[in-house]
Amino acid sequence: MKQRVLSGMRPTGALHLGHYHGALKNWVQLQASHDCFYFVADWHALTTHYENREVIERNVHDMVVDWLAAGLDPEQSTLFIQSRMPEHAELFTLLSFGTPLGWLERVPTYKDQIERLKDRDLATYGFLGYPLMQAADILVYKAAYVPVGEDQASHIELTREVARRFNHLYGRPADFAAQVAAVLAQLSKDDARYYEKQRRHYGETGDADSLARGAAVVAKVRAAATVTAADEELLLGHLKGAGKTVLPEPQALHTEVSKLPGLDGTKMSKSYGNTIAMREAPADVEHKIRRMPTDPQRVRRTDPGNPENCPVWQFHKVYSNAGVQAQVVQGCTTAGIGCLECKQPVIDAILQEQQPWRERAEPYLRDPQRLQAIIAAGTDRAHDVARETLQDVRQAMGLNY
Ligand code: TRP
Ligand code: SF4
Repeated sequence: MKQRVLSGMRPTGALHLGHYHGALKNWVQLQASHDCFYFVADWHALTTHYENREVIERNVHDMVVDWLAAGLDPEQSTLFIQSRMPEHAELFTLLSFGTPLGWLERVPTYKDQIERLKDRDLATYGFLGYPLMQAADILVYKAAYVPVGEDQASHIELTREVARRFNHLYGRPADFAAQVAAVLAQLSKDDARYYEKQRRHYGETGDADSLARGAAVVAKVRAAATVTAADEELLLGHLKGAGKTVLPEPQALHTEVSKLPGLDGTKMSKSYGNTIAMREAPADVEHKIRRMPTDPQRVRRTDPGNPENCPVWQFHKVYSNAGVQAQVVQGCTTAGIGCLECKQPVIDAILQEQQPWRERAEPYLRDPQRLQAIIAAGTDRAHDVARETLQDVRQAMGLNY
């Protein structure tokens, strides 16, 4: 059984090379080894852009085309749209009852974003709550791993806290104490007493050795087939002071920060106007790279330059092999090559990288129905998993009437 990976992206429209090298490439790589679920976080977009509904629909389309262009394979990965999944909303609601306000108020992105997006009114209930919605997005698939940028670390940490709290509050069945007593009665008196002693000591002091000694007894009685696998789980849960794990805690898979900056050397971002779109027209790619700023010290062709002060060099680091890189360093620092000459291999490499993306996007641009069919199939698959989790959750919360 492959472990599940889940991630989402806000529908920002056509994606650029920064998105590809910062996130999407990693998503594609994870497909072969993991059971990947990737979704369009359109509700998330509404938490900040609730006044701009018209852009979201077109953006969803363009973004999913780019996912497929990049090589996400709908046979391997489950691709879907958040707003088609009422289970996310249900879990979000159920988790909201027990989530302290302070946990959301102290998420660092909350104050940051309010500061940064001053032109929008973000004093809303939905904006404060969106990291909890993200927790629901993840927990509803019981995902083991969440590939995200470092900027999302606090959201994954919140998700883990929310899961832990849920398991603590609801993970114990009503007759938990009686079940534990029944299993302990199957152990020898010595083993049962030893287990209880370690458990109590661990609960009082958090001493890891006590936990390990307690777990060792459990392993021993399991190995001797004194208890069943289910009993073993119960004893381990009781030992750790947790109940049954209804919602497993996910782990962040931090994607390396993309080394590819924007055309001006700052972070590539649509709002800075320094992007190259994944499916940018070849002539525009060429034009944009040729116009890219270079080392400001290199005014004339005869001035030597320093690649470290040049954004083009950052592109070479992503796109060129060691041989080309050595030529660039040599040519730049000795004024042996001109900047346009230096840029040509970058242009060639980007055009070559984009070629398969254009080819893969083409059928979906020609026939949008194909895209709809992929999303419909992904949504069905996501529903199967999400429905099962909600059954567990309702059961745990005493809502299975
Ligand atoms: N908040 C994420 C972002 O802005 C997008 C997102 C929403 C997400 N739900 C998620 C990412 C669940 C990972 C898992 O980039
Ligand atoms: Fe930049 Fe290349 Fe010009 Fe040097 S030669 S300044 S690395 S573009």
